[in-house]
Amino acid sequence: MIAGNWKMFRGPEPSALRGALGDLPHVVAPPFTLLRDCVEAGLTTYAQNVHWEPEGAYTGEVSAPMLQDLGVTGAIVGHSERRQYFGETDLGVARRAHAALQAGLGVIACVGETWEQRESGDTETVLRVQVESIGDLCGTHDNLVIAYEPVWAIGTGKTATPELAQEAHAFIKSLLAAPVLYGGSVKPDNAEELLAQPDVDGALVGGASLDLDSFVAICRAGS
Ligand code: PGA
Repeated sequence: MIAGNWKMFRGPEPSALRGALGDLPHVVAPPFTLLRDCVEAGLTTYAQNVHWEPEGAYTGEVSAPMLQDLGVTGAIVGHSERRQYFGETDLGVARRAHAALQAGLGVIACVGETWEQRESGDTETVLRVQVESIGDLCGTHDNLVIAYEPVWAIGTGKTATPELAQEAHAFIKSLLAAPVLYGGSVKPDNAEELLAQPDVDGALVGGASLDLDSFVAICRAGS
């Protein structure tokens, strides 16, 4: 799976992207306001977040059934930017993932350590807590994918080496049986060697997914 996380950007024009992708497998995760355009263009479309209740007094949130009404087929949960800037907790992330899976959505659940955590030797502890909190609530599930996104590699141009990514992915799979995507400064010129690692099952692409040609090139590397 190659997934493009557009974050709070407009991204490429959906029908142009759809045309350029041809038969290449892909997921796009645009801002909420562009979900309908992406679905209508025929793109496989995920939301960037989803709430755990089907409806209720939760200002600013969107539920799984609401996404499904639009034809959205999955959601990212627990992105480090959600955890870092919006106070999302391991339990909240797990609840979002669980509700989405129960509703029939695909889920990309993000985990990853900060640079300080890596430097102090805490990477495995951090990953264990994050992955197990998702696994405890969701178990293994056909529609559950984990994304390993070292926080220090997101939007920084610093990519984990293929060896380092492989090591983290193998560790995550020892905790929970799920495909694991790599995320963090994936570009057309490093995608192939990252994706060649045995336990790297795809990529979650931020910045490079905003450029049509870059994203198509990464999807091609993935196929
Ligand atoms: P990046 O973002 O590719 O721009 O580093 C990845 C992500 O945040 O999912």
